Amino acid sequence: MERVKVLVTGGAGYIGSHTVVELYAAGYQPVIVDNLSNSSLDVLEGIEKITGVSPLFEKLDCTDIDAMRNLFQRDKGIRHAIHFAAYKAVGESVEHPLIYYRNNLVSLLNLVEVMEEQGPSSIVFSSSCTVYGQPDPEFLPVSEDAPLQPAQSPYGKTKQMCESILEDTIKSGNSKLNMISLRYFNPVGAHPSAHIGELPRGVPQNLLPFVTQTAAGLRKELSVFGNDYNTPDGSCIRDYIYVCDLAKAHVAAIDRLQSMHERGTLEYFNLGTGRGLSVLEVLDEFMKANSLEVPFKIAPRRKGDIEQVWADPSKANQVLGWKADTPLDQIMKSAWRWEKRIRNL
Ligand code: UD1
Repeated sequence: MERVKVLVTGGAGYIGSHTVVELYAAGYQPVIVDNLSNSSLDVLEGIEKITGVSPLFEKLDCTDIDAMRNLFQRDKGIRHAIHFAAYKAVGESVEHPLIYYRNNLVSLLNLVEVMEEQGPSSIVFSSSCTVYGQPDPEFLPVSEDAPLQPAQSPYGKTKQMCESILEDTIKSGNSKLNMISLRYFNPVGAHPSAHIGELPRGVPQNLLPFVTQTAAGLRKELSVFGNDYNTPDGSCIRDYIYVCDLAKAHVAAIDRLQSMHERGTLEYFNLGTGRGLSVLEVLDEFMKANSLEVPFKIAPRRKGDIEQVWADPSKANQVLGWKADTPLDQIMKSAWRWEKRIRNL
């Protein structure tokens, strides 16, 4: 049987590449478009090593509407898209807001517009738990109907604005699209094969890449940003989700959209484990799983950090029939295996 095609924008990126692998394993035909602004062609080789097939790829910028339209005109078979392509560095977005607004908003607008032209089709959008800000204690763990809070950064605002674009499109009552917005908590780890993983540019801003680079000797020590928060050990709490589990949730979302009969729907799902871990616990789990010592110091709080947030993933568990269940030590091992591979250790 012919594989159902799924467009994956940003498919050469961190979460995108892992999702391409899972789509292929589930019997779909992923079609990657990526402008390679934060990824490289090596990722495609990594995907090929895992799946045994060279992925369909086109270098394309989603902010170019003519190129997008042209893609759909050439490939009439595409009815589903997963939209990863976006800038995602919080600090950079504060420094260069216009670049973030243009890239993240225009690429989504183009995709929605072009897919509406295709007739009945569906979009999975990469959103973030950042839309919840710091939930009040009674809303923890946070579920999809917790109140949203104004985002702290232009990056976060683009996620909220993109969700509003989807919402208003559906509210118009004349959309032929079905859409799912997936709110990711903190994706971590790498494919167990270590052929694909996260490749941060410059000094990593996210916790686990900083930990693995410190373990590899690239950084002197980890700074734990704050130990005076109102949490059991004083460091911030997040919900760390294994990137392969996250990737599988996208397959479950596409399965759901594929079998949907009504048109003009939009659903939100939290993608997390339901387990909150502090920064110090993450560090400890990483060291234990890999029998390593990672030097660290307690540093001042990072501006704009949320004290604690973790997911209530029960909606995704029930409706998508999906669960993030990879044990923590496997996740930590995968992160280290990947770091060792890319540093030739
Ligand atoms: C951040 C964004 C989130 C975005 C994500 C994208 C905020 C509040 N959230 O998530 O919207 O989707 O990045 O990548 O900006 N930490 C250290 N030392 C480090 C690095 C991090 O202690 O060197 C701590 C942080 O203070 C935080 C935790 O580790 O408590 C996780 O940080 P990070 O990986 O940057 O993710 P978020 O801040 O949760």
